[in-house]
Parts: sequence; C-alpha cells; structure tokens
Amino acid sequence: MDKKIVLLGPPGSGKGTQAEMMEDELGFVRLSTGDLLREAVRNQTELGKQAKVFMDSGGLVPNELVIGLMKEKIDGLKGGFILDGFPRTVQQAEFLDDIMELDAAVNLDVDDDELVSRLTKRRSCPQCNAVYHLLYKPPQKEGVCDKCSSALYQRSDDTEETVRQRLKVYRDNTFPLIEYYRKKGKLVDIEGEGDIRDIFQRIKSSL
Ligand code: AP5
Repeated sequence: MDKKIVLLGPPGSGKGTQAEMMEDELGFVRLSTGDLLREAVRNQTELGKQAKVFMDSGGLVPNELVIGLMKEKIDGLKGGFILDGFPRTVQQAEFLDDIMELDAAVNLDVDDDELVSRLTKRRSCPQCNAVYHLLYKPPQKEGVCDKCSSALYQRSDDTEETVRQRLKVYRDNTFPLIEYYRKKGKLVDIEGEGDIRDIFQRIKSSL
C-alpha cells in the first residue's frame, strides 16, 4: 500500500501489534520510535544514553532528539509507511506536516484498565520487535519468539507504576493530537478492544 499513515493511541492500545500486521500482510514499511529508541539504548549510542532516563521514568524523550532521529529515517523512505509512536506532541506533528502530506491518522481507542492489564503481561522480542501477551497472544514456545527464536523479555517500562505515568503523559501531551488531526480531516477512529484480527480488519477497511 502506498499510503502514509500515523498510528495514534495510548500506551498498550495495540499500535505495535497492528503495525506489525500491516507490515507483514499489507507491505507497509513500519517505523516505530519506541523500537528505534530502545535499539539506541541497547547499543549505548549518545542518543540512547540521553533517551534512557526519560523512557525509564515513563516520560517523553525531548522533541529535538526524536525529531532529529525521525528526520533521518523518513528521508530514506520510499512508498507507503506507518509511523508507530510518532508524532506524540503537537510540535512533532507540525514537523511532519512541514515535510509531507499524510493520508490518515489512525487512532486506537482502548479503556485505561485494559491498557494496564495488557502492558504488564506483555512480552517483547529484542531482535525483531515482535509483540506478545501472556494470555491474549502467547508465543508458541514459552519465552521464545515465534518469528526469530530470540528469548523474549519484559520491557523495563512495563511495570504498573511506570505504565500509569505513561498514561498520564499520554493524556497531557499526545491526546490533543486527536483533535489536531480531526480538524485536518485526517482522523480515523478505530475501536481498539476485542479480537486482534478483527481490529486489523477494521483498520484495513478504513484505509
Ligand atoms: P513506545 O514503545 O512507542 O511505547 P507506547 O506508545 O507506550 O506504546 P507501547 O509500545 O507500550 O504499546 P502499543 O500501543 O504499541 O501496544 P502493543 O501492540 O505493544 O514508546 C516507549 C517510550 O519511548 C515512551 O514512553 C517515550 O519515552 C519514548 N518515545 C517513543 N516515541 C516517542 C516520541 N515520538 N516522542 C518522545 N518520546 C517517545 O500491545 C500491548 C500489549 O497488548 C501486547 O502484549 C499485545 O500482545 C497486547 N494486545 C494488543 N492488541 C490486543 C487486543 N486487541 N486484545 C488484547 N491484547 C492485545
């Protein structure tokens, strides 16, 4: 698909899960700021060292760092893509508007209590970034990624306390983007609760 899509939604709303399916089944290129930042932290790059302290506390990494990272990545993209976790502030959205015309901002809507339960039982692959859930989407073999056989891990920001802080940060900084994109006529609201494949079908039919 040759569309430029932004995925919006609170932590745990399923952005990564749906972006992974859109990449595998619809041929989108997926750029996740969270995955890129975690990779920088693992590789102990200068960006990673600066970002870690904000990520561990559940806060946002400063705009100038994230915009610099995304500018470099977006410049190299051709064809359709999904941005997962970017933009997260009005300043980041304005940066994006200055460099391209988006086709849609897909917003996943999920209740707060459901988000906490999803995130505290999430397991992630450090190698290919596949996402699992101990109950809703368990790997075939416990603790092992179905796709690349790497050992799964629990993200350090997936503790209940940090998740609640991330939800607050989302409400203060990212929630206003729903109105931002609605006013531009780009917003697509998707019910983000229920079966993972049903949600994927809803997104697919809306594009
Ligand atoms: P990031 O990695 O982007 O985290 P997030 O937005 O908090 O989102 P998550 O990855 O936690 O959740 P998700 O919506 O992708 O849900 P998932 O599909 O995994 O960012 C991490 C940090 O990096 C931020 O806190 C910030 O510090 C920094 N950062 C990133 N971008 C930034 C930016 N632009 N500016 C500044 N700082 C930035 O699903 C969650 C769980 O639920 C999984 O276990 C999954 O299997 C399960 N699940 C999914 N769908 C369903 C369903 N329908 N039913 C049941 N379970 C489901």
